[in-house]
Amino acid sequence: MCGISGIVHSENIGRNLFNSIRNLEYRGYDSCGMAMLQQGALDLRKNVGGIDEVNAVEKLDQMQGSIGIAHTRWATHGGVTQENAHPHLSADNKFAIVHNGIISNYQQIRERLQGQGVVFESLTDTEVFVNLLEESYAEFNDLEQAFLAALAQIEGSFSIVMLSAYDPDHLYCVKKESPLLLGLGDGCNYVGSDLNAFLEYTRQAIVLDDGEYVVLGQQDYRIRKLQTRELVEKTVLQIDWDLETSKKGGFSHYMLKEIFDEPQTLRQAMKIPLEQISTIAEMIAGAPHCYLMGVGTTYYVASISQYYFSNLADRYYPALSSDEFSVVSVESGDMVLALSQSGETYDTKTSLEYAQKKGAQTAAVVNVMGSTISMMVDQVIMQGSGPEICVVSTKAALAQTFIMIRVALELGRLKSQFTQKIYEGHQTDLEGFSTLVEQVLNEQSGFVRNIARSTSHVEHWLFLGCGVYYPVATESALKMKEVTYQHAEGMPAGFLKHGTLSMVEPSLHCLFFVPPPEQKNLHDRTLIAMEQVKTRGGTVIGIMFQGDQRAQAAASQAIQLPRVSKLCAPLLQMIIAQMFSYYAALDLGRNIDKPRNLAKSVTVG
Ligand code: G6P
Repeated sequence: MCGISGIVHSENIGRNLFNSIRNLEYRGYDSCGMAMLQQGALDLRKNVGGIDEVNAVEKLDQMQGSIGIAHTRWATHGGVTQENAHPHLSADNKFAIVHNGIISNYQQIRERLQGQGVVFESLTDTEVFVNLLEESYAEFNDLEQAFLAALAQIEGSFSIVMLSAYDPDHLYCVKKESPLLLGLGDGCNYVGSDLNAFLEYTRQAIVLDDGEYVVLGQQDYRIRKLQTRELVEKTVLQIDWDLETSKKGGFSHYMLKEIFDEPQTLRQAMKIPLEQISTIAEMIAGAPHCYLMGVGTTYYVASISQYYFSNLADRYYPALSSDEFSVVSVESGDMVLALSQSGETYDTKTSLEYAQKKGAQTAAVVNVMGSTISMMVDQVIMQGSGPEICVVSTKAALAQTFIMIRVALELGRLKSQFTQKIYEGHQTDLEGFSTLVEQVLNEQSGFVRNIARSTSHVEHWLFLGCGVYYPVATESALKMKEVTYQHAEGMPAGFLKHGTLSMVEPSLHCLFFVPPPEQKNLHDRTLIAMEQVKTRGGTVIGIMFQGDQRAQAAASQAIQLPRVSKLCAPLLQMIIAQMFSYYAALDLGRNIDKPRNLAKSVTVG
């Protein structure tokens, strides 16, 4: 969790360092701070609040110096206070560190140091480590050795960057489980917890592996193994993300901008070479069992995919939430296919580790290049959706679903589930979908906005659908909860009559995801549930396709979408529901891109 950044330059970097944590703010935004070395002394400024709020008080962007570290926090150990914010200083003010992850044995070290008279200002595990550094330096009088000696005493998963008054030219960085990357600039170098820390300044990156540490200078870097101190040669990646796609580009929020990025994201997903898709389909086909896994939105993407595998390949693969994956008795040779936008989610990563230990093959669809999950699986598909900054996932989730449809389609072909002609028809549908999305986004946004506005006061929603529209409804309900803070419950439409119907009254609003009428069975079942709500005085709103008079008659408000293939229809509804949540949140004045209590990638358990 949280965002880390560090820069070593020959010029003043106050503004750049500040920009870099602003670009990381989506990783955590309850407090932030910076530490820079100025004329041999550490200058530390930190406070509670979002980046701009803290800057207004602390003037972070006006700090002076050519070497510094910065952090934006999502609290884990210790509440949201100025003292608990990062960076943390050692008692002698000679060391400053920023830290992500958890030092699991910090309590005992804290007690030992307290016994020696060290006074702690915060409740964090981080402050314990910075004081260990002070202690180790007193013993070794050598910074690198002190860094290693202090590291040898801590347990847990962490990435740390240290700045010390004893070395004005280098940052000392370490990675163990929590991600850390280097950015190589022209006469300057960067370190960050993800690419967004330095994407504005350089496209050359090195992904650190677990158990590696770095002494990072302005022109040089040395990466070594913690255990052996052996030098490590690393590949320099050229990052091809377009910087413009990480900017807001005139939209009032990243969420809306990222929804409008979706046509482009779909085109990228279509460009993923067929061999990559087929490789995963073949792995699935050859495995005795296959499990689909993700958490939060990606769990729902897995659940939607489940239906596509069933429909297109006649195979049922369970979808599991990563945090509950340990219930699966994975066997050697089984296949686990994970989904993760960030590639860093703790629950997903640890479940993949568990599966790998049991001898399973693993694959993943991931958005962030160089991320832990993308590097640890046997086979990865990089979805290429570009940076997704808003905490709630829109374009990345849509692209993942689209890619999973492609995998299911390939599996169906492999298993001769349909003729070549039908296969080609499906491919044509997928290829044409991005253009339709473009049109729908432009045509529908005003309309969706009006309905969202007229219902934004609603505190309780049921989101209902049948078949594949059921997980579309649950994903859309999550979106609504995340961004509006209102209660929305996703449910199979047919399940409603088995209990929840008792809640129906005019104030209960039910949003139905209505399939195209030609999917007769699903359509009929959805219509029955709509009638059940309507008859009992509940409020029915429907996302449906043009010409569906029965659904129109059952709904008090209807969003009507152009006809689209059966394959893509659920995706179109998913997009509309994202927009619906966005506009409801806008009307409620919510913190849309950074909803309260959430963070984009949850790298703790
Ligand atoms: C966090 C976010 C969710 C996201 C989930 C999975 O909980 O708040 O919006 O869906 O992580 O993230 P991932 O990066 O693995 O897709």
